[in-house]
Amino acid sequence: MQVVKTIVDLRNIAKKWRKAGESIAFVPTMGSLHAGHLKLVEEAKKSADRMVVSIFVNPAQFGVGEDFEVYPRTEDEDKQKLQASEVDLLFLPNVSEMYGDGAKTLVSVKNLSMLHCGASRPGHFDGVATVVCKLFNMVQPDVAFFGQKDFQQLAIIRTMVSDLNIPVEIMSVETVRESSGLAMSSRNGYLFSEELQVAPKLYQALCVARDEILLGEKRYSAIENEAVTYLQNAGFMVDYFSVCRVDDLYKADKRETDLVVLAAAKLGRTRLIDNICFSVVR
Ligand code: PAF
Repeated sequence: MQVVKTIVDLRNIAKKWRKAGESIAFVPTMGSLHAGHLKLVEEAKKSADRMVVSIFVNPAQFGVGEDFEVYPRTEDEDKQKLQASEVDLLFLPNVSEMYGDGAKTLVSVKNLSMLHCGASRPGHFDGVATVVCKLFNMVQPDVAFFGQKDFQQLAIIRTMVSDLNIPVEIMSVETVRESSGLAMSSRNGYLFSEELQVAPKLYQALCVARDEILLGEKRYSAIENEAVTYLQNAGFMVDYFSVCRVDDLYKADKRETDLVVLAAAKLGRTRLIDNICFSVVR
């Protein structure tokens, strides 16, 4: 596996591959790699000749008082995992390589970026969209893979790619879960052992909501309130628990058939997000 830190080196290698007629798959990450990331790599590798992964803990997507400083950085272990997964190239830019001094352009996907996580983390999705747009311009992949766990992020990236005519195919991969049901996340490492017993309840609440809807319950606000109470009683501080339509992530009404239930909640100092996506036959 080649490891490069500069855009020039990355471009030179990618240029050679393209000249040889090889296609490129890309998985952007913030490192601290777990089985969810490795699943993205495994799926991405099937779709192209060459596989590029980036690791960049992006300061622009963390708000004031969030966990940028303490976000887990495990470069050596990450490199070993990517090497074992037969990744061709790891791009490891630092902040000045990524942003230079004083970048003035921000990519902002209207409306979608203000909902749900965007409402409680102002500017977060502008930071995500901007860095992903920059990474796409740097790597110029044919296809890029993202996890469904970050459902809103995925929707924002798809919208950005379509609106800006970026020539990359966006693929998504199902959330990888612990045997408890807890969605894998680099932030799970913040959880204390007692919290690890409680954290799977977030996914359990999503499953209950889905099952109630599939059984015909149409009072979505009642389902949401019930879930919030259940989670609060379990010790969560709930940010949102919302039955939405898949298309634009606005609140679903009872006629909608393609639904996603989105949730975010804090357990102690750890912010967890998860979702469940399904269709209803009307
Ligand atoms: O999902 C992530 O790890 C990040 O938001 C991403 C897409 C790598 C952008 O920094």
